[in-house]
Amino acid sequence: MIITCPHCKKQHNIDEKRIPPNVKMARCQGCGQQFPLDIPRAESPAPPPPQSATVEAAPAPVPTPATPSSQETRRIGVSLSKGGVGKTTTAVNLAAGLALAGKKVLLVDTDTQGQSSFMLGVKPKGGLTELVTGELPPQEAIIQARKNLWILAGGKSLAGLKRLIDRKDYGGELTIAQALTPLEKNYDYVVVDTSPGWDPLTVNVLFYVNELMTPVSLEVMSIQGFGEFLKSIASIQKFRKEIELRYILPTFRDMRVKRGSEFLGEIEKIYGEKVCAPIRYNVRLSEAPAYGQTIFEFAPGSNGAQDYRELVRKVTGEPDLFT
Ligand SMILES: Nc1ncnc2c1ncn2[C@@H]1O[C@H](COP(=O)(O)OP(=O)(O)O)[C@@H](O)[C@H]1O
Ligand SMILES: [Mg+2]
Repeated sequence: MIITCPHCKKQHNIDEKRIPPNVKMARCQGCGQQFPLDIPRAESPAPPPPQSATVEAAPAPVPTPATPSSQETRRIGVSLSKGGVGKTTTAVNLAAGLALAGKKVLLVDTDTQGQSSFMLGVKPKGGLTELVTGELPPQEAIIQARKNLWILAGGKSLAGLKRLIDRKDYGGELTIAQALTPLEKNYDYVVVDTSPGWDPLTVNVLFYVNELMTPVSLEVMSIQGFGEFLKSIASIQKFRKEIELRYILPTFRDMRVKRGSEFLGEIEKIYGEKVCAPIRYNVRLSEAPAYGQTIFEFAPGSNGAQDYRELVRKVTGEPDLFT
């Protein structure tokens, strides 16, 4: 069939039978832009014979990810918010809290800053990039950081992974899903930390996780800013119906600041159950990483530890945990 790039109008002749049904985006070989791939899957008539002037070799097929052998594994992306709002703090302490509650957890860091392993005080020799490229087998790319807690590290090498994704003509958005899906059966939870903004890795995460947890800083967020990122979710849901904004996590709660309370009231009115109990501003949370410790290790009695325990109760739906 012939598809036309919506950006530069270049026509591409593709063999749709060779494109797996879950591939939803294509990259134009002319202008390099991505665009949604809308292939009618009903029994369509044979494609017209290619005209030699516009023929391009159909790219090699991308293998379809294996169906998860366990339906139980929950995939939670901590995503869609700006930098400095507590995403990494949340991903690490949520993962650590779930592990303390006896769940098997894989924490995946998709940020080039590689903060997650630093926060857990571990120095893996590789991580997500090496897993995807096959440089390391899963048992070496994934390292155990604590009891029940494993980590697939991020860091600078993710720049190489971004380039690898960029070079794919289509299906690039499924790169991480294809790497993680065969492994996830070993875990009850996969928690994915993301970088701020919309890079190819974030898009990949959004094509992998089913649940989104979005930290919003009560210090800086406004209703307007919040509306902006709800639009981002809606744009992803066009491609992936399975993804759900499950948790809105207010962070940096400061009881003294009135504007924060007003904003919290507003989002609770609209989003009800999705809004988690806020994480209070707590200096212990910012001190713990320097010691390579989670908040439960560094200051188990602090407000920060209490608030993240509450988050674990909310996510598991087990109100009696840690009592
Ligand atoms: N509730 C909190 N109270 C005080 N400091 C916090 C809190 N949450 C995160 N921090 C600190 O704020 C900074 C940004 O948090 P981080 O989790 O790295 O955000 P992000 O991943 O969204 O960029 C870090 O220095 C972190 O230690
Ligand atoms: Mg971060």
